This record gives sequence, structure tokens and C-alpha cells, in this order.
Amino acid sequence: MPRLPSAPPAVTSVQRDVHRRDFLRWLAASPVLASLGGLAALEPILAQEPWPPARRQLEELVERAQDALDVFDLQRVAEATVPPAHYGYIMTGVDGESTYRHNREALERLRLRARRLVDVSRLDTSVTLFGRRWPTPIVVAPCGSQSAFHPDGELGTARAAAALDHLQVLSTVSSTAVEEVNQARGEPVWYQLYLAPVGPGSWEGATALIRRSVNAGCPTLVYTVDLQGGSNRLTGERWARLDDRDCASCHRPGGEASPVKPMLRGLPSGAPDPGLGRSTTWETLPRLRDVTDQNFVVKGIMTGEDAELSVQYGVDAIWVSNHGGRSEGAGRATIDALPEIAQAVGGRIPIIIESGFRRGSDIVKGLALGATAVAVGRPYLWGLGAFGQEGVERALSILTRELEITMRAIGAPAVGSLGPETVVRS
Ligand SMILES: Cc1cc2nc3c(=O)[nH]c(=O)nc-3n(C[C@H](O)[C@H](O)[C@H](O)COP(=O)(O)O)c2cc1C
Repeated sequence: MPRLPSAPPAVTSVQRDVHRRDFLRWLAASPVLASLGGLAALEPILAQEPWPPARRQLEELVERAQDALDVFDLQRVAEATVPPAHYGYIMTGVDGESTYRHNREALERLRLRARRLVDVSRLDTSVTLFGRRWPTPIVVAPCGSQSAFHPDGELGTARAAAALDHLQVLSTVSSTAVEEVNQARGEPVWYQLYLAPVGPGSWEGATALIRRSVNAGCPTLVYTVDLQGGSNRLTGERWARLDDRDCASCHRPGGEASPVKPMLRGLPSGAPDPGLGRSTTWETLPRLRDVTDQNFVVKGIMTGEDAELSVQYGVDAIWVSNHGGRSEGAGRATIDALPEIAQAVGGRIPIIIESGFRRGSDIVKGLALGATAVAVGRPYLWGLGAFGQEGVERALSILTRELEITMRAIGAPAVGSLGPETVVRS
């Protein structure tokens, strides 16, 4: 659950103390100290170092991306380094954060049934989506405004995804245009589409945006359908109030992304379309499909009924998501929705799941219950905010390592060895 702020992150005092310890280390190694009487001269100063170490000092153990042992280590650094309004934008769910909590609680309620004496000397974590084989099932979810978290922004994320060969999906409200991101990634990313209220807003604008992603070579369009009703992001608003910087150019009051993003600039405004925005229905899907031959994925599906409709409307893959707890309040966990969705789909098209996945064992649970791949949002954003590209790489490699360890530990040498029998509810 996001920690609600009681005070702005203590960046300044942390940095001051880090510098102080650096200075003491330098002093201990210097000839100046010898002339002052050696280490004994430092004792009165060192005696002021509190023991046992305060939480603040434990956090300082993560001075470099490589020091992070799990993705929560990266979160702690991001909390201290990303400006408050932007950290709040990463962390916020809706209302009292119940959906955000349910995602985590439901994953933690599931236990793994470990099989023994299985040959796990060769491990295969690869999955295939639309004919492309990926060495890992871990997908980089579309998250907007990444330059607000670190100057590396989407380009840092793309270089990290390229270094470790992960599928990356780029948001409509990215802070960098798709052509540049594709170049940094070394191959075209999948492109995520918002229509409205965030997004182009008119049919002409939507068509132009989709065509731009086609021209950039993006093989797949991911249409996000879970924000049509708006969302009540209170945690984001609270954190934004802690931020006394002038943020008008990067976000609106409440920490929401700025409407003026590179991919939305210069789009034809067109006439307002009654089929876009709050009144969008399933009938919008064939209209979108007529614009493009890209693989077409619907992101935000949470029920078996909507999974069945997606298949009927010719969708190529389903993305199970409640937007990381950022769409409806009191929402069901995605992992709880997955079994009925997998049953409705019956293997006809791939399923991607996300929202709340933080450990390799969580990823195993998603794959076991019917997902083809598992996406993550905040874990790599924490890495990005903490250490830029290196932090994204660290987040992805931590999750991959945990996934591999878990698969070996439960006797699953390949993704195909995981199934509903792998998990049990506690
Ligand atoms: C800061 C932030 C920005 C996001 N921006 C978008 C976006 O532009 N488009 C979109 O479809 N989803 C967006 N999402 C949702 C993610 O794609 C994904 O559904 C969610 O982060 C998964 O949950 P997790 O963060 O718990 O892993 C965003 C999420 C976060 C945290």
C-alpha cells in the first residue's frame, strides 16, 4: 500500500549525512588524520553515529542500482529522490487505495505447490506473442510521463528493455515520441492507445495517432479501456500538495500527466466524436480495426463476459488490468479475475496480466493461472526514478532472477510446466 505522506521526503538530510560519512571515510584515509593523532581523533565524532542504525541508514545501503535486493529497495530510493508530486503520481491508486491493496493481498493469499526431484538444470522462461519469441515473460507496461521520474525517461526504459530483451509498450502520454523510443529500443515497441478523456479526443486525431505508430513500425496496438469513467486519485493529490515546485509544465493539479505530450501535439483536432469518451462502446473496436492491420490488444479487461466479447470482436490478445489499482475503487484483484477470463478465452488468444506483481513468485502465479505473459508498471518506474536506465535494468533483472529461482524451486523447468495445479489458495 502506498505510504501516505506525513512530511516531504527527507532528501536534504539524507544527502547531508551521506556527505558527512563520505567526509569521515576520506579523513580516516588521509595523512591529515595522522598528524592529528590517528583514528582516536575521530572517536568523539563517530560516537555520535546512532546505533542500531536508523531506517534512514539502511536505505543508504542502496547507493547504486546493483545494491537493490528486491524492487522495494528501489521504491525506497525513488521515494527519496523523485519530486513529491511525481512520486505521488507513480504511487496513487484511487479512493482509499483498496483496489491497489486487493491486487497485492490476492497475490499473497496464493501459495505455490512445489514438486520435487524434477530436472531443472535447463530452464526455459521464454514465451511467444504474435510469433515473436521473448526470453522472458516479463513485459514493460505502458506508463506515461517518464521524464518526470528521471531525465532518462522513456529512452532509459527502452535501453534497459533492449539490454535485457523485454517487450516494451509505450504510452500515448509518453514524454518522448515513439520514433525516438523505437531507435533506443532497437526495434519497434508496442504502442498503447488512449482515446479519451486522455488522448486525441477526436476520430481524426485518433486515426492520425494510430497511423503514426504504424509508420514507426509498431506491430501491436494496445487500446486501454479502463479509464472511461475517470478515476479518483486522492493519494496523488495529497502528494502534489507537498510539492512547492512550479510544476505547471509537467502536470496538472493532482499530479495528473500534462495534456500536452509529444504524441498528442499537432494532431488534427477534428469534430468531437460522440463515440469517444464516456459513451465509447464495443462498437468502437471495429472502427479502430478498420484503421490498422496491427495486432490489436484490449487493456483493462476484468471479467469473463468482457473477455468473451473481446474474442467475439476479433481482439488478438487480452490484457487483464485494473490499471494498477488506478481505475475503479473497491475493485477486484486482477489475479482473482484471471481464472474466469482464462476459462472464457479457452486458449483462443494470448492473455497478458498485471497490477500488483512485485516478485518472481507473483509472476509464476500469473502464468500458472492462464496468462501468457506478465507486465509490471511501478517496479520499473521505481528503478527509473531511483537510478535512471540502470535502475530499470536492475528492477527487470531482479524480477527475472526471482522468477528463475522460483521456477527451479518448485520443479517447473519451463513456463509450460506451470498450470492451475501449481497454486492453491491459503
Ligand atoms: C505512473 C503510471 C503511469 C501510467 N500510465 C499509463 C498510460 O499512460 N497508459 C496505460 O495504459 N496505463 C498506464 N499506467 C498503468 C500501467 O500500464 C499498468 O496497468 C500498471 O502500472 C500495472 O500495475 P503495477 O504498477 O502495480 O505493476 C500507468 C501506471 C503508472 C503507475
